[in-house]
Amino acid sequence: MSLKHFLDLDRFDAKTVRHVLDLGAKLKADKGQSHPLAGKTLALVFEKPSTRTRVSFQVGMQQLGGHAIALSPQDTQLGRGESIADTARVLSRYVDAIMIRTAAASKLEELAHYATVPVINGLTDDSHPCQIMADIMTYEERRGPIEKAKVAWCGDGNNVAASWIHAAGLLGFELRLACPEGLDPRGEVMAWAKSRNAKVTLTRDPKAAVSGTDCIVTDTWVSMGDEAGNRHNLLKPYQVNTALMAAAAREAIFLHCLPAHRGEEVTPDVIDGPQSAVWDEAENRLHAQKGVLLWCMT
Ligand code: CP
Ligand code: NVA
Repeated sequence: MSLKHFLDLDRFDAKTVRHVLDLGAKLKADKGQSHPLAGKTLALVFEKPSTRTRVSFQVGMQQLGGHAIALSPQDTQLGRGESIADTARVLSRYVDAIMIRTAAASKLEELAHYATVPVINGLTDDSHPCQIMADIMTYEERRGPIEKAKVAWCGDGNNVAASWIHAAGLLGFELRLACPEGLDPRGEVMAWAKSRNAKVTLTRDPKAAVSGTDCIVTDTWVSMGDEAGNRHNLLKPYQVNTALMAAAAREAIFLHCLPAHRGEEVTPDVIDGPQSAVWDEAENRLHAQKGVLLWCMT
């Protein structure tokens, strides 16, 4: 049987994503009573910083009865030039799955190619699929099936936006992106959405994008590895503030993967206000990823 890697949402069909989301929801309801991954070990490879991904995967494995080991380039031979391929071969002899957070998507692919255990994408410059599993779980807890949702993305067309596009293409909900010229999502991702007749649109006008939507999502203006350059000027009109929230549906929720920069991509009154679901969203990283872990490792 082929390995159940969790690399990018566009590799899946809707049924599989729904199955993994259901597993996560069941494990959340189960409150750590069952330990289906007893005796299993997950390696976490971090080539970029992380708070949520690191802690949620470690705690998630523990709650499922297993164990996680976090590795960084500084304290492994990866930092001294041992190849991803050899690292994949060796880690596969010790652990039951490998999560990696790295800049280049090609490294994730290489790891998955040489590993003989499932590989999970914990963020690359191109995508962040685990985040979107948690985001969908959060949306559905608050507002019901995502399939019926209108979601607006305001800001940089970055890795998190790309995974939202994949999710919209897969699950069929409407996604309206508002991004400044020069910071559009990658052409390849937009072309994929188009090829699936996804309800994904791109505008320069944030107010038009959010009008009547059920959910507004944003992210940092400067992702890990980005140069700030002119980004603050370009992205200022895309800030999620009370005026923008007021243009969405009355019951709309606000999502942000965190870490947030209050006063930049979002104002404090929005992220700390009644429509914000960001703390549930952060918690749901744990539950949604337990679904991912169970799916990958059993
Ligand atoms: N949202 C997210 O992935 O957070 P970390 O960078 O803290 O893992
Ligand atoms: N777009 C952000 C997400 C952080 C979780 C980054 O890549 O830095």
